[in-house]
This record gives sequence, C-alpha cells and structure tokens, in this order.
Amino acid sequence: MTKFLGSKRIFTAVFISGTGTNLKNLIKFSLTKKSPITVKAVISNKNEAKGLNYAKKYKIKIRIFKFDNNDDREILNFLKKEKIKLICLAGFMKILSKKFIQKFEGKILNIHPSLLPKYKGLNTHKRVINRNEKFSGCTVHLVNSKLDSGKIILQKKVKVFKRDTSSKLAKRILKQEHIIYPKAILKLISNL
Ligand code: GRF
Repeated sequence: MTKFLGSKRIFTAVFISGTGTNLKNLIKFSLTKKSPITVKAVISNKNEAKGLNYAKKYKIKIRIFKFDNNDDREILNFLKKEKIKLICLAGFMKILSKKFIQKFEGKILNIHPSLLPKYKGLNTHKRVINRNEKFSGCTVHLVNSKLDSGKIILQKKVKVFKRDTSSKLAKRILKQEHIIYPKAILKLISNL
C-alpha cells in the first residue's frame, strides 16, 4: 500500500447504468488523500443514465457503449488509451464478455446488494424479504465469467426488519455499499 501512496494513482473507470450513487461516492473517495485511485472515465450503456450527471459535475470523461457483442474492441481501445487499470462496476446492468473479463482479470470489481453467494442476480431485496431472511447486506467482489460469483473482497451484513419493504431495505443497504466500496478498493490494492 505505502509503495503506492504518494506515487501515481490507479486510473479507474466506473461503469454505470442508472442512478449512480455509488459512482458519486467513488468520485468523492477518489478526491481524498487516502485514495489510491483516480476516476478517469465513466462508461455507461445508457445515454440517459442519471449518474452521468455526476461525471459531468466533476468533469470526468464520459463514454457510451452499447456492450453488444461486437463493440468490445472499441471499449478496449478507449480503456487502453486512457490507461485504465481498474474497473469498478456500480449498478452496471450489462454482462461483460468473457474476452473483456479476461483482458482485465482480477481488475474488475462489482458491488452487489446481497450477501453473496446468496441472492445472485436481480430483485435481491424482494427475494430476501419473501424468504424471511434475518440478514441481508452487500458484497464487493471481483468479476469473473459467472454472474456475481468472483472472489469476495468485502461484505457488510445489514439486518432485515419484520416490516421491511424492498425500498427501505435497499436504502439501508445502499448506505453500507457506499462505505464498503472504497474500503474494498483499498483492500484489493494493498494486496496487489
Ligand atoms: C446498487 O444497489 C448496487 O449494489 C447494484 O445496483 C445499485 C446501484 O445503485 N448493483 P447506484 O446506481 O450506485 O445508486
């Protein structure tokens, strides 16, 4: 870690599809002294992703890619040109191709709103509540070619209350997401 602090920061791209609160949080983190990363680019599959406003506000480069089978090369070229060494998925709703994942093996993080390996995929909060789980939470993990299955870097448990709704639970979990994502980045990088 220390060898890294004070020297160059790791150029990072954040991939989003929606609201972008994790993006905002990562940008803020990247502006702190202790951050080992600089958010150099924000990539989205959606032109209208609300989170892109944060990128604009902080004058970070934005690129829209469709992420259909064939446009990997264009994305990879862009990431290479920008010297991106770390990718943080934050509410990114597309599946990355195997080839893409291979190129960035061990360097793509994702945040998922459940205690993985439980509740992979979508609609986690609803499923958690329907199953009367006492706890849920969030997980930062490395991305591999299987959905929500890569090595777990950090998790945080969140209590599920009797009268919880998906949106209440989602809100409480999101708060924790904002805490663990930067911590997970620090942990990942200190192990490099
Ligand atoms: C988060 O709950 C994240 O765990 C999931 O998608 C949501 C994105 O929220 N992958 P935001 O766009 O960062 O606000």
